[in-house]
Amino acid sequence: MKKIILMMFLCFLMSFGTLLAAGNIKFDAKKFVDKTLELHDGASVKYRAYENIYYVGNVVDSVCQTLNIFVPESAFKNNKNTPIFLKTNVGGYRASKASGPSAKDATGRALQEGYIVVIPGSRGSDSKIKDSEGNNLYTGRAPAAIVDLKAAIRYLRYNKKTIPGNTDLIITDGTSAGGALSALLGASGNSSDYEPYLSELGAAKERDDVFAVISFCPITDLEHADMAYEWIYSWANIQPRGLSPYHFDVAEELDQRYPEYQNNLGIKLPDGTALTTNNYLEYLKTLIADSAKKALDKGEQIDTQTGVTIKDNEIVVDLDAYLAYIPTIRSLKIPPAFDKLGVLEQDATPENQLFGNSKGEPANFTDMGLKLAKDDFSLTVSPEMKKRVYLMNPMNYIGEAGAKTAENWYIRHGAVDRDTAFQVPVNLALKLQNIGYNVDFDLSWGRGHMGDYDLDEVFEWIRKIVAVN
Ligand code: DHB
Repeated sequence: MKKIILMMFLCFLMSFGTLLAAGNIKFDAKKFVDKTLELHDGASVKYRAYENIYYVGNVVDSVCQTLNIFVPESAFKNNKNTPIFLKTNVGGYRASKASGPSAKDATGRALQEGYIVVIPGSRGSDSKIKDSEGNNLYTGRAPAAIVDLKAAIRYLRYNKKTIPGNTDLIITDGTSAGGALSALLGASGNSSDYEPYLSELGAAKERDDVFAVISFCPITDLEHADMAYEWIYSWANIQPRGLSPYHFDVAEELDQRYPEYQNNLGIKLPDGTALTTNNYLEYLKTLIADSAKKALDKGEQIDTQTGVTIKDNEIVVDLDAYLAYIPTIRSLKIPPAFDKLGVLEQDATPENQLFGNSKGEPANFTDMGLKLAKDDFSLTVSPEMKKRVYLMNPMNYIGEAGAKTAENWYIRHGAVDRDTAFQVPVNLALKLQNIGYNVDFDLSWGRGHMGDYDLDEVFEWIRKIVAVN
């Protein structure tokens, strides 16, 4: 009996704790300022700005764990059906701050289109605070960024009665590391895997799934990205990359390990054929041809240096020439492209920082990276590291039981982007499509590693998915 009373008391304390945390994150609908955003075309949009709002009960980082909400004049009233355009500013997996809407990216356009714009900050690999002894404590190592962004979404839902906009129509947008986080938000909605981290932050007990994802050049599937990169660029190791004999061996090792991963992924082409390393290059040619066709249709020229030519009204892709053309714009990453720390030199990539520890030390996060770094092939990364890496990969959550994956996906990767292998965004898009999600994927002709371009196309897509909802 005593035990039961104690349990009841503990439960009461726990629920009181959540209430307290949630009590701190109540939206104040009266606290806004009026602002105007000047747009490129001489137009401007008036909006209400609700800024510097803490979205968790237990704030760890008072600079990054805030969000801003912007409401365009057209949505001052009757906005309960207005979609919410949520943009993450994350780049390089570093900390990001909530900013104002900008005429230079999709946020300005979203305001102009009449959408509610939400810009949350989030902790990142360089986030740090001082501990009680005055030492640096890094608080934004993985999975902090995705936990923060989920907490921001939960904040919106928790306050849905008073917050402008329709929280069933949240559309996320991000580029590069931000594109990866946008995709991860979309893939892993409501997954209980993140719950311990969210609870610790005093995040609202709410859903964190989203309606749609816009993901530009996502730097994702990090545990397989090194192999994917060496497989597609293996030809380049002979000449243009100028690799040392050691790096050459590393590249070969990674290249050879890729087929096993790809061929067991179970991804199918739109016609149902299995996508493997045997037909991948042919498929890539069709994607590049489609990209060139779209550019031609818009009246752009196709530079023959790209290895793409038009013969008898047919687009012909010389893939070797095309892949050789890419590094003439920006040189390739040195292998391993992502888990580089300690492999020949002590370079730490943004990903080594992402998976680093709270003392500020970067870390290897793949078995292969660790083996190479320590020159010990018996080593594997710790279960704790494996779990953190798992939590950062949308591929693990798409269509899985326990996760609510977004219905709508707009994914773009620049056709000359060398920051990650083409297979990374292609696999992401096909995996989603195979399961039946609504996916709009293209390689964007002539584009490198960038995002928020072709905004006419982006907002046309948004209009369509909102209309059929
Ligand atoms: C970004 C770019 C990279 O090449 C990378 O490895 C990680 C992040 C970025 O621009 O966000």
